[in-house]
Amino acid sequence: MIRKGVQWVVKDPEKENVFWPSEELKKYANMSDEKIYETAKKDRVGFWANIAKEVITWFKPFDKVYEENLPSFKWFIGGKLNVCYNAVDRHIETWRRNKAAIIWEPEPVNEPNRILTYNDLYREVNKFANVLKKLGVKKGDRVSIYLPMIPEVQIAMLACARIGAPHSVVFSAFSAQSLKDRIEDAQSKVLITADGYYRRGKVINLKASADEAVTGTTIEKVVVVKRTGNEVNWVNGRDHWYHELMNDVEDYCEPEQMDSEDVLFILYTSGTTGKPKGVVHTTGGYAVQAYLTTKWVFDLHDEDIYWCTADIGWVTGHTYACYGPLLCGGTQVIYEGAPDTPDWSRWWAIIEKYGVNIFYTAPTAIRMFIKMGEEWVKKHDLSTLRVLGSVGEPINLDAWMWYFNVIGGGRCVITDTWWQTETGGTIINSIPGIGPFIPTVACRSFPGVEHDIYDEKGERPAQGDSGYLVQLPPLAPGMLRGIWGNPEKYKETYFGQYNGKVYFSSDGAYFTEDGYIRITGRVDDVMKVAGHRLSTGELESVICSHPAVAEAAVVAQPHEIKGEAPVAFIILKPGFTVSQQLEKEIIDQVVKGIGPTGKPEKLVFAEDLPKTRSGKIMRRILRALVRDEPLGNIMTLQNPESVEGLKSAIGYKGPG
Ligand code: WT7
Repeated sequence: MIRKGVQWVVKDPEKENVFWPSEELKKYANMSDEKIYETAKKDRVGFWANIAKEVITWFKPFDKVYEENLPSFKWFIGGKLNVCYNAVDRHIETWRRNKAAIIWEPEPVNEPNRILTYNDLYREVNKFANVLKKLGVKKGDRVSIYLPMIPEVQIAMLACARIGAPHSVVFSAFSAQSLKDRIEDAQSKVLITADGYYRRGKVINLKASADEAVTGTTIEKVVVVKRTGNEVNWVNGRDHWYHELMNDVEDYCEPEQMDSEDVLFILYTSGTTGKPKGVVHTTGGYAVQAYLTTKWVFDLHDEDIYWCTADIGWVTGHTYACYGPLLCGGTQVIYEGAPDTPDWSRWWAIIEKYGVNIFYTAPTAIRMFIKMGEEWVKKHDLSTLRVLGSVGEPINLDAWMWYFNVIGGGRCVITDTWWQTETGGTIINSIPGIGPFIPTVACRSFPGVEHDIYDEKGERPAQGDSGYLVQLPPLAPGMLRGIWGNPEKYKETYFGQYNGKVYFSSDGAYFTEDGYIRITGRVDDVMKVAGHRLSTGELESVICSHPAVAEAAVVAQPHEIKGEAPVAFIILKPGFTVSQQLEKEIIDQVVKGIGPTGKPEKLVFAEDLPKTRSGKIMRRILRALVRDEPLGNIMTLQNPESVEGLKSAIGYKGPG
């Protein structure tokens, strides 16, 4: 929708830094009726039931809306549907048949883009579903996907959904070891990957990592998309080219009739321990939430061009760069490469080129662009933008204001979406036609969802004090239903804290004076590094696997661009000494074990680390050290003298 010069947002005359949708936007928005919150609150189950009937095409209607016996709960019981059918087939029965579904922008500027209409997507997905069947994939079998941002990634996911094979997408920048761990946990039968992809003008050989990952696992077949044409190793019988397989199948594949509670996908994410957990999402509830949140939170209209910059390897990519926009019949942009290729104006060039109306990205990216300077933005016309979204970590005031003024021209709404891999879709955010938009405040629970903030005992802390963010049942339809192969962990992580009565988010939050929710960040050993979720335990176990390392403790340090960055404290084994070579080896070990996202900002080698009398490393003190916070009483430590050495090693300045 190109409506240049339209003011979509107005400033609250009463309050500094509070914005509301303009009358223009209220008229245009999909949802502008404040009453929706009240209506939904009165009967949350009924609210979702009505939406589910309206927005999803069911093969068989559900018999019962909701059932709960926490930690287990079910939505749309007895209903049969297929998410691929809803995201693709039903659009080709309408005028949307020839509408662009995916506009793909390759990284190399000289390479032509690819535009897939819904009809194109329908053809490709049907054929690839038949390919998977031919390779022996049956309903319920897991398929791992290790692909860059190319349309084949959405095709592969939808094809899996079509035949009822849960997919497990692994971020293409993750290491071979991470992929292997995830394949082994999910026991996947087939891996879909590519020869390579472009990143900052270079070809990254993805197949090499894939080869390393699959050996000795349950993977029987590897499907390889030809993207860059680089030389790849080939295992005859196991490896197959995507384009060759696609030449030899039928055009139509009947979509499986899936039960509402059948698994749609598994997505691995960091927990507090070393091993990533496979978050399980099911079919009916996820589809309903993905549809509705995309439509209302991004105010997606048929004429819009929508762009979510998240990689498909994260839940944001799953819900807002695949299922959500496609379920809505929207047109979305997918970009393969880096934001600085060929220069820092690439994203803004893409917005201008396609006339993007809705743009969704992370605070870490915004902070990076602030640092690079406004001149990159100013080169391009961004006047088509209407709605801006933020996700992945708390957004600081400067980033919010810059996003609002420089990218949004002071004209667009910003919806700060709080959610998690576990919630499947955004559940705390403002809605464009309703508002309000307050810098750094995520604001309100999505209609039909209710949150509260508890102290340790499960009571509301005093006004303005922080507590733990919890979700009250009935839980949102798109919530995770479990951790793959680990029901105990599911129960303990999310329902252990308050005796199974509410969902525990692991985030801190408080209510503002006006009763809006402001998120303060994780309260567990999970950190958000450039929006990526990493656990300190995961990093520690990789670092400790280096032969020279005796002990390691990782804590998060505030970082100007990344939000947080890991700092690793290391004690070496006797006989080993610190050297540049050793530092490099340890960092390489992290990159190899986890991927470049896990790279520690700093390695601090110490003779000794602060420990309790029982010999446990006091991470609280390390955290205070890297944050220049007060250290508190250190005399109860087994070795208070260890702290002195660390102070100078990290340049501790103390509070103030
Ligand atoms: C954690 C979940 C949400 C999908 C992508 C990340 C943090 C996420 C916000 C926000 C403050 C946020 C939380 C959450 N987080 N969005 N708008 N404001 N914090 O999903 O990787 O599972 O991470 O990201 O700490 O628990 P994820």
